[in-house]
Amino acid sequence: MEELRRTDPEVAEAIANDVERQRYYVNLIASENYASRAVLEALGSVMTNKYAEGYPGRRYYGGCEFVDVAERLAIERVCALFGAAHANVQPHAGAQANMAAYFAVIKPGESILAMSLAHGGHLTHGSPVNFSGQLYRVVPYGVRQDTEQIDYDEIARLARAHRPRVIVSGATAYPRTFDFPRLREICDEVGAVMIVDMAHFAGLVAGKVHPDPVPYADIVTSTTHKTLRGPRGGLILCRAEYAQQIDKAVFPGVQGGPLMHVIAAKAVCFKEAMSPQFRAYAARIVENARALAAEFLRRGYHVVSGGTDNHLMLVDVRSKGLTGRRAERALGDAHIIVNKNMIPFDPEKPMTTSGIRIGTPAMTTRGMGPAEMRVIGGWIDEVLSAPDDAAVAARIRGQVRDLCASFPIYPERVEVAG
Ligand SMILES: Cc1ncc(COP(=O)(O)O)c(C=O)c1O
Repeated sequence: MEELRRTDPEVAEAIANDVERQRYYVNLIASENYASRAVLEALGSVMTNKYAEGYPGRRYYGGCEFVDVAERLAIERVCALFGAAHANVQPHAGAQANMAAYFAVIKPGESILAMSLAHGGHLTHGSPVNFSGQLYRVVPYGVRQDTEQIDYDEIARLARAHRPRVIVSGATAYPRTFDFPRLREICDEVGAVMIVDMAHFAGLVAGKVHPDPVPYADIVTSTTHKTLRGPRGGLILCRAEYAQQIDKAVFPGVQGGPLMHVIAAKAVCFKEAMSPQFRAYAARIVENARALAAEFLRRGYHVVSGGTDNHLMLVDVRSKGLTGRRAERALGDAHIIVNKNMIPFDPEKPMTTSGIRIGTPAMTTRGMGPAEMRVIGGWIDEVLSAPDDAAVAARIRGQVRDLCASFPIYPERVEVAG
């Protein structure tokens, strides 16, 4: 970062401070991770300079021979990784992947059946404040109040009653796996296109520790930066019959020039995700999430749905007399980063909430295991039991720093740190 420090010390300092934060804070944001040095190198490459509207071999610009290599590698690798017939690696992010998937198969005014935001779905699954809720007629499904898990009979009933053109599954804050064969059956019965948004659990699918949506879904969308541990970005996989529609929907439908440096970094990430080490990593994410959820249960917290099958959990903090917002702030003071999150049937508003969402992908990348998860669970409990106690926060900040120092990230990356 020497050049940046010289020419723009303010931005250089902000980056250096964030490197320090990432190195020494416990990060339990379920959707974040630490990309490898190789991914960061591809992201920081001169491919950012290249315009390449179109697809490999069919571009609207000259000089695309090398970015074509990167995009072809990304496509081949992601198809091999997930056993998909076709892939589009150009979506700038998960939201654009979902927008393109909808544009490919439904017209404005047609209906989608998707998980409600209040029960764990994503904004792009039909929230009224998002394009998806504004362009389409949205029928939301949720979880049962008693089990806090998806009720597939309810999805079937809603599908029969509303005959949606599309049924979307996948979520932002759902701690259980999805029953893809059952969803396929429901889609077939009502003639709906099955879209699975695996943004959160794509890395677990790649690591073969989560049910695989690809054999069942017509279209699978994802991000590349969460459990998959690549650059910030999106992708779409689909059956051959949807290939043309998907490609047209991404470009020229919803995007212009692809981000070729990001696509190169996606190719790197897909290669990493094919390795035996990544498989072990994915299994460890789930093992760690189970250990952490068990620790909260042991300490008397209500964990939504009674635990987790994947990389995340929702912890109800009302037993400590707190809101999610207050809990997030108190933990932040102790350098433990989580996000406030609605829990099913939450009486609080989205900016307040009764719960926090906790995920293990980032800490697992550092090499932490179940023993560290139990320690972290204990610290969270201490903070939430004394949220106004500055001495508790200060002590835990020190312990957090020591733990992070024992599981370093980017240890050799002094040039990144400035
Ligand atoms: C299920 C799901 N889909 C899509 C997205 C959107 O991804 P992005 O933030 O990259 O647009 C998210 C992000 O949190 C998500 O959780």
